[in-house]
Amino acid sequence: MHTTMGSKDNGTLRSDAEAPTRRANMQTKLSHSPEQQTGQAAGTTAFVVSAYANANANTSLEKSKSASTAGAMLIWDLPLRLFHWLLVGAVTVAAITGFLAPEWWLDVHSWAGYTIGFLVIFRVLWGLWGTFYARFRSFIFPVDETLAHLRALAQKKPGHYKGHNPAGALMVFTLLGTLIALTVSGLIILGGQENIGVLAGYVSFATGSGAVEFHEILAFGLLGLIGAHLVGVLIESLLSRENLVRAMIDGRKSVSPVHAQSCVGHADTSAVNQRELPPAKRVWARAISTVLMVLLAGSGAAWALLKTPPNGYVAMPANKTYASECGDCHQAYHPSLLPGSSWKKLMAGLEDHFGEDASLDDESAKEVYAFLRRYASDKWDSEAANNLRQVATKNPITITATPYWQRRHKDIGKSVFAQKRSAPKAIVLPATKMR
Ligand code: HEC
Repeated sequence: MHTTMGSKDNGTLRSDAEAPTRRANMQTKLSHSPEQQTGQAAGTTAFVVSAYANANANTSLEKSKSASTAGAMLIWDLPLRLFHWLLVGAVTVAAITGFLAPEWWLDVHSWAGYTIGFLVIFRVLWGLWGTFYARFRSFIFPVDETLAHLRALAQKKPGHYKGHNPAGALMVFTLLGTLIALTVSGLIILGGQENIGVLAGYVSFATGSGAVEFHEILAFGLLGLIGAHLVGVLIESLLSRENLVRAMIDGRKSVSPVHAQSCVGHADTSAVNQRELPPAKRVWARAISTVLMVLLAGSGAAWALLKTPPNGYVAMPANKTYASECGDCHQAYHPSLLPGSSWKKLMAGLEDHFGEDASLDDESAKEVYAFLRRYASDKWDSEAANNLRQVATKNPITITATPYWQRRHKDIGKSVFAQKRSAPKAIVLPATKMR
């Protein structure tokens, strides 16, 4: 750790004039002082003291440099930048497949969602034990400082912050919160409506459907936030004459005295604090172990959730009588394709069943009827069942007459239905929840 303090980046920024400010800073703004953190990390204050000695030893050499050239130092560590741009990619894919693509892109959409979830978890952990400027505590600002920054911004004189400024910090937290809510609501929809994903079987169809609106509102909200984020970056870049997009690529931000002087009001006095990120090797080790941890914990949780068939998540048992008696002339339809009331009517008229005699002996009829009612659409909780509960008033025993069936098949040409094909003996639907 000692050796890093004397390295180039660090040295460039040292100057005698800044040293007292730095010390004053340590006392007044402990919460934002990187030095304090370093001290903690090293577990000793002696380190801080020796760091200053080290810095002062360098100052005469570096003084002229820092006065003339704009200093730039590594602020955003590589894992943070990777996170940022991977997130941009994943959100782009999720937005395109969510807003524009038809439903069969759901696979890609949900994988983008899982990626976002993992990235956000990584960011939260990195906000706890990442490098200094990545940590949340380095950009949790008091309300008055945030307001002061916004006021200064309105006067086009915002103070310069090496890490996130208060407005940017607010944006980071809002974006992360929105992404978490989007990921969670996405999982609820996937589990409830589609019966897939880690929450399949735990969430009812109704809850899944309820989450759709929330998910959509959040998605539009996210678009708005992204817009605001881009405008914010543009404005801050113009006002501070620093390319913040480039800073998120190479990680370097300016900490020149010019910038330090442009600070107004409550602006970040840590702009004159000096700190270099820990050696890349250590950052990498920490980042990789964090990623592994997220993946391990994530897949562990997913495995545990998928392994236990949750309560109410059932596969329909086969019924031999039904399959043989009602699968003779056509496939044995899944009972969830009609509600119980329709099965009642159908079973009451088997002698004239669509022009055929399909009557059964009493015992078989009883068994078949009990089976049909037990797994009827009003008891089954799949997407189709939920939609097929509404039957055609004039033709309540015909699946193909239901409004939902009609809606889903309206674009399929008559010629397709006229084709001769061998239909399966029975429609097998995946297990779902019971209502
Ligand atoms: C003797 C042959 C025969 C038997 C046995 C039979 N059906 Fe049918 N079923 C038909 C015919 C014919 C139709 C009308 C044409 C079609 O939709 O395939 C039909 C239609 C249906 C439909 C409407 C399908 C649609 O298009 O929406 C349902 C539901 C149905 N049957 C249920 C049953 C059940 C339940 C049983 C057992 C109790 C049964 N069927 C036994 C001949 C049979």
